[in-house]
Amino acid sequence: MRTSSTSTTPSGTAGTPSSAAATPSRPSTAPPGPATGASGTSFRARLAALLAGVATVGALITAGATTAHAADTPLRDLAAAKGKVMGTAVTGSKLTGTYGDIAGREFNWLTPGNAMKWGSVEPTQGSFDWAEADQIVNFAEAHGQEVRGHTLVWHSQNPDWLANGSWTPAQLGTLMQNHINTEVGRYEGRVAAWDVVNEPFNEDGTYRPTLWYDGLGADYIASALTWARAADPAAKLYINDYNVEGVNAKSTALYNLVKSLKERGVPIDGVGLQAHLIVGQVPSTLQQNIQRFADLGVDVAITELDIRMQLPSDSAKLTQQAADYKAVMSACLAVTRCTGVTVWGFTDSDSWIPDTFPGQGAATPYDENYAPKPAYRAIVEALGGTTTEPPTGACTAAYSVTSQWNTGFTGQVRIACSGAALSSWRASWNFGAGQRITQAWNGTCAQTGATVTCSNASYNGTVPDGGSVTFGFNGSWSGSNPVPTVTLA
Ligand code: XIL
Repeated sequence: MRTSSTSTTPSGTAGTPSSAAATPSRPSTAPPGPATGASGTSFRARLAALLAGVATVGALITAGATTAHAADTPLRDLAAAKGKVMGTAVTGSKLTGTYGDIAGREFNWLTPGNAMKWGSVEPTQGSFDWAEADQIVNFAEAHGQEVRGHTLVWHSQNPDWLANGSWTPAQLGTLMQNHINTEVGRYEGRVAAWDVVNEPFNEDGTYRPTLWYDGLGADYIASALTWARAADPAAKLYINDYNVEGVNAKSTALYNLVKSLKERGVPIDGVGLQAHLIVGQVPSTLQQNIQRFADLGVDVAITELDIRMQLPSDSAKLTQQAADYKAVMSACLAVTRCTGVTVWGFTDSDSWIPDTFPGQGAATPYDENYAPKPAYRAIVEALGGTTTEPPTGACTAAYSVTSQWNTGFTGQVRIACSGAALSSWRASWNFGAGQRITQAWNGTCAQTGATVTCSNASYNGTVPDGGSVTFGFNGSWSGSNPVPTVTLA
């Protein structure tokens, strides 16, 4: 839900439209999925409801000798061994199939990307919608994860009734207090940390003029923190902002605010550095900045890490991005009071960047087909783990389940080449649990017994060096839907 514009100013760079080389789009004859005619939202909602409690399936299997990450230690375990947390922002409706599998396996903190914002939870005054927020909290509890509540008091994504109302200062104070009471109270004991106030500063370190600042003055921040503490005394309370990663005017203003709140005895446990970064531009003062906040006696969390690039991505940019992810991880690891890192979406298919910064993207650790990128491996290495390098000079096939419902599923196989190329292809696998392919697109599939063989369509046999092709299918399953190993010929 978007009720008002986003906060970070998109850069003015001219956008080159992203193009996935050699990836034909899904023809319009492609199967519509299991619920023809349902609107996207209600379909997703029903799908989510159907899937609640169903064990998710899906892992990324790379054909050939090497699996990309399935056998590696999950990020959450590597981070835990270092005393850190590893989080991701999530979209509730997507927490199934391969997306749910990765979110549950790799991360031990979840932040609802939008579901807990005021505009999401109270679209009409007095009428609440907690469905997606509840779903994420339930998923987290089922997967041994903590939740970062995001966000209580902000100038953006507020409901129209609030943003467009004309309120006296007293009314504004009451609205804010009730909102905090209601939301923090609802999740008392279930949300470990709250971004109580989001983005209070301008770039020059002055206060951002907002509904709250204009009506209540700078002390709206102290009030919000105090009310949040009252609503859940155990939750860690944060102020969160962007462009405060390095030492600069804005982060110094935040520093001075936190210092004065501490001196006044206002409850404040931590600062969130969003870290929406650009490839090659990790601030050199990141660690120093984290340390100066820690020295004030508060925790520091990297709350929304992504590292964007001008599209299309290429191996040089992805290599630089990996180095950048590693630098951020290392800065946090170097400071005891840095609690850990949350990425703002773990897959490029669930990132806000392309919508907000036209022409830019590829900002997360997994590509849009859930294949781990060099950035993923860099995080592993920063956390002291090891990864198996993907084969060079090879074409690989990655199988993933993109959605699943009570009797059916949609899957895809992505064939990607690096240092090699194909002029035609054939992918085959054996289903392990009686699954049947019912329909395929962007390829021709036949199934005999458990064995499925799919070959290219007339228009997508060519996979150039550095390119990829994806084909998809619907299938049926019952009992379980394990991911098969794909062989490429
Ligand atoms: C973004 C979401 O990811 C998008 O889906 C939404 O359209 C806009 O907001 N800083 C924040 C986050 O604190 O809440 C923003 O999330 C990204 C910038």
